[in-house]
Amino acid sequence: MSISKVKVGIIGCGNISGAYLRAGPTFEILDIVAVADAIPERARAKADEFSRDGRALRALTVAELLDDPEIRIVVNLTTPNAHAEVALAALNAGKSVYNEKPLAITREDGQRMLALAKSKGLLIGGAPDTFLGGAHQTCRKLIDDGAIGVPVAAVAFMTCHGHESWHPDPEFYYKAGGGPMFDMGPYYLTALINMIGPVTRVTGSARITFPERTITSQPKHGARIVVDVPTHVAGVLDFANGAIGTIITSFDVWSANLPRIEVYGSEGSLSVPDPNGFGGPVKLRRATDKEWIDVPLTHGYTDNYRSIGVADMAYALSSGRPHRASGDLTYHVLDIMHAFHDASREGRHITLTSTCHQPAALPPGLEPGKLDE
Ligand SMILES: NC(=O)c1ccc[n+]([C@@H]2O[C@H](COP(=O)([O-])OP(=O)(O)OC[C@H]3O[C@@H](n4cnc5c(N)ncnc54)[C@H](O)[C@@H]3O)[C@@H](O)[C@H]2O)c1
Repeated sequence: MSISKVKVGIIGCGNISGAYLRAGPTFEILDIVAVADAIPERARAKADEFSRDGRALRALTVAELLDDPEIRIVVNLTTPNAHAEVALAALNAGKSVYNEKPLAITREDGQRMLALAKSKGLLIGGAPDTFLGGAHQTCRKLIDDGAIGVPVAAVAFMTCHGHESWHPDPEFYYKAGGGPMFDMGPYYLTALINMIGPVTRVTGSARITFPERTITSQPKHGARIVVDVPTHVAGVLDFANGAIGTIITSFDVWSANLPRIEVYGSEGSLSVPDPNGFGGPVKLRRATDKEWIDVPLTHGYTDNYRSIGVADMAYALSSGRPHRASGDLTYHVLDIMHAFHDASREGRHITLTSTCHQPAALPPGLEPGKLDE
């Protein structure tokens, strides 16, 4: 039986939009019909590049896209400083919204977005959706099946030296809403919540190491960026189930030999691949194992399937089931990221007021291009 497609419009045609425009059409439920950007040439360029099979992808203004009654989901791929403004406008236009990360810069904006969506009976949520990839769903299944016993602790490390060497327009990474925690923390925290569940309390320390950065990518080579936000953030998380997490996100480290994520359980340990990806090696070492064992992945979607979260939202709109990359999850992640910074400033633990449901695991054996209805 063919499924009725959900029409999608994308706002924000920068660096990451190509990934959505490439992977989105592989999901049978998604019909990406239009793109818009504050810079119209960017929308036109993406529309030209991704029109296919005789079907024109329309380049519209933001207002035109929001006026299109057929579009049910707006995918908000603007820079973080515009996430709230664009999302609120889309919700007010009657669209459900899937945001790139972070959900918003401030908790207040995030709360406004969730409240408006709820009052209008619309869905809100967003990136990352890498936790729906084959590697992370395999890890989730291993934990759910008791392969490492009860989770005791987890570590997550993202270290690099920032994005000014490759991103064409890297300033936003060093302004409010940027920094390594707001930029990369969502991948790591969402992966941890997918495996271990919500967090109740955090503490942390954060610093600005280099007050100025020089862009070495093109076309802004040589331009200087004043750094407004911490670029090394270390955090401790108490999960609701009792496990303790340790996380470092840093733009100040030249090299390191750290794992991406490991989860330690009462019966063994799990090595989890890069949460900024969909595949990668999953390794398990139970108490009785002499060495780490490579675990075959139990789930598909191991390539760059950015947009699988949009597809999941489209199924939720169609069937009424909950969507996995939900507003509650993305808001909980935003709250945790702020709480690390608050804890550092205030020198204390922060008890979180937000929580979320652990998103439902994906069933194994899904046909390519489909999710559970
Ligand atoms: N670049 C990456 O590899 C990457 C990866 C994953 C997620 N992200 C996330 O995706 C989002 C976008 O990142 P990017 O790297 O594509 O940024 P970018 O600067 O390359 O593109 C953002 C686009 O949004 C447009 N825009 C900004 N404000 C707007 C508004 N109010 N209305 C309409 N258009 C507006 C800009 O003109 C620009 O074309 C960010 O939230 C980022 O965290 C980026």
